Amino acid sequence: MGAIIAICNNKGGVGKTTLTVNLGHALANRGKKVLIVDNDAQCNASSLLVEPDVISDSIYELYESDETPIERCVYPTAYDGLFVIPNSEETAALEISLNKGIPATYLRLRNRIREYAIKNFDFTFIDTPPNWGFFVLSSLHAADCVIVPILCSSRFSMEGLTRALELIEGVRQRENPDLRLLRLVVNNVDKRTAISRVVTDKLRRLFDEDVLFKTSIPTNTQFSQAEMEGKSIIRFSPRSVGAKYYRNLATEFLEIFEDGTAS
Ligand SMILES: Nc1ncnc2c1ncn2[C@@H]1O[C@H](COP(=O)(O)OP(=O)(O)O)[C@@H](O)[C@H]1O
Ligand SMILES: [Mg+2]
Repeated sequence: MGAIIAICNNKGGVGKTTLTVNLGHALANRGKKVLIVDNDAQCNASSLLVEPDVISDSIYELYESDETPIERCVYPTAYDGLFVIPNSEETAALEISLNKGIPATYLRLRNRIREYAIKNFDFTFIDTPPNWGFFVLSSLHAADCVIVPILCSSRFSMEGLTRALELIEGVRQRENPDLRLLRLVVNNVDKRTAISRVVTDKLRRLFDEDVLFKTSIPTNTQFSQAEMEGKSIIRFSPRSVGAKYYRNLATEFLEIFEDGTAS
């Protein structure tokens, strides 16, 4: 049985899309079948994974109608074992009407993707926009668990974390009783800077071992270079520290699922 994991943080630029694509690719390289659902109408994950001119049906159709079969919205990527349901900028315009239909519309994505994703993929990652709006809540309704990436380079990085935990708890109590926080992952760690040390120490003091991934992701300029080339860091620069830490993160992720603490 597959697991569905939402990647959430209401801040932009904390590494949600980078995490979705690179952890997805690292797991596909370990023989897992992985689906990425781009639930952010900015389409950043989509543009890294599939050429825009091959996309006809996308997540837009899944939200908009019950007619389009999900198989038509799933595309292979340049990476073996990694597939994507892309987004389209038009999806942003659906938010108003979807909001009018809540709470029922919160379940639309869940109802469209869940059975298919669990049956056909080991892991499904949902990339989300940088807010706490409809599409993020819809992702939380569809998922089994949540990974929250947080930035290590800012003293404000812990803002919003409490809100994230409250939202997860709220959705868990209402419509999705199995939803849990899988882990927080600290991104952009630069061991040379005092702020990185302060934030890391504070997080390790605040949270138990089973709340934070042991693996943190270091600051590495190759991430933005890989993004400019439209590639995962593992494909763009397999020997970079960024690629190495994503491989480590995939190992830790698989250990969590294999020893059963994820369920
Ligand atoms: N560990 C890192 N070191 C350096 N740059 C990073 C790192 N992680 C992400 N980035 C870069 O930061 C920018 C924002 O990341 P992104 O994943 O798009 O954030 P989000 O999806 O949360 O808005 C991107 O240009 C990405 O390449
Ligand atoms: Mg993003």
